[in-house]
Amino acid sequence: MLLFDKNADPTVVVAAAVLHDIGIKEAERKYNSSAAEHQETEGPPVAASILKALDYPDDFIAEIYDIIRHHHHPEKSETENFKILYDAGLLTNTAEKRLALFREGAEPEVDGYLTEAGSTIACDAGLIKGRD
Ligand SMILES: [Fe+2]
Repeated sequence: MLLFDKNADPTVVVAAAVLHDIGIKEAERKYNSSAAEHQETEGPPVAASILKALDYPDDFIAEIYDIIRHHHHPEKSETENFKILYDAGLLTNTAEKRLALFREGAEPEVDGYLTEAGSTIACDAGLIKGRD
């Protein structure tokens, strides 16, 4: 199993992973809420200013900005970089939901992974049912 798509850029994925929730603090300050929509609004300018101060190139900053802008809401066409970040978040959330459902005695019905690796990891970990 290929865990990292050859079309993905690890530098972008790692930077997005580090910065994707950076808007939470500003969202909580402005809206008293860390709802996904607020994170997506407040995070990109903060991330961009950090990356600009660190002299990252404009196209790199633009991609990170775009990923953070909708990191909870995949769009019709996504880059492999976005898909990997999204699946990592979904794996975390699936594990948390599975634990909560397990405590209630129910089965999780979470799916929607964007990468084959994400789906495989979720199946292997028993977080979702395997596909036939
Ligand atoms: Fe988030």
